[in-house]
Amino acid sequence: MSGKHVEKNQPTSFEFNSVNLEKINKILKKYPSERKKSAVMPLLDIAQRQHDNWIPYAAIKKIAEILEMPHIKVYEVATFYSMYNLAPVGKYFVQVCTTTPCMLRGSEKIVKLCKKYISEKEGQLSSDNKASWVEVECLGACVSAPMMQINDDFFEDLNEETAIKIFEGIKSDQLPKFGSQKGRIGFEPNKRLTLVKN
Ligand code: FES
Repeated sequence: MSGKHVEKNQPTSFEFNSVNLEKINKILKKYPSERKKSAVMPLLDIAQRQHDNWIPYAAIKKIAEILEMPHIKVYEVATFYSMYNLAPVGKYFVQVCTTTPCMLRGSEKIVKLCKKYISEKEGQLSSDNKASWVEVECLGACVSAPMMQINDDFFEDLNEETAIKIFEGIKSDQLPKFGSQKGRIGFEPNKRLTLVKN
């Protein structure tokens, strides 16, 4: 990803809702009280899910307050990991892996399609405000490269044709089923299982 986009128009306050406060209390019980800052990552995730998939600075301050740590430390974690968004993203947030295995299997074609179907610039909302996309480092599904993540789901074994189907699906709110787009099960070898003869 070419630098994390940070929203200029920030809300002035943020409060966790009661359901999330309960989740946070459960998470905090996993750590000794003097080590509660270890919960920073799950709390950032909860804040992001509560706030339309991006974390405003007010939420970072709130997390710092709960964990009794400097807010710059929370901010550092939020800027380091690509899974935290610091600016609004589309309802469909597309993360295209462009690390070596995906690159060798054609991820640049998927990036071109993102530019065509979503927005010319990475991190920009599509004209219908439905989607945005970013390039990310390896998402750990190299066996089914090239791949992309949309919200919480992986779409794998992509080619131009299946990627176009997915981008068309975004427009009509009808995404194909996640997982291998060429029907591989359990990511067996491409030519199916081979029998070893004795
Ligand atoms: S290189 Fe793309 S998932 Fe690992």
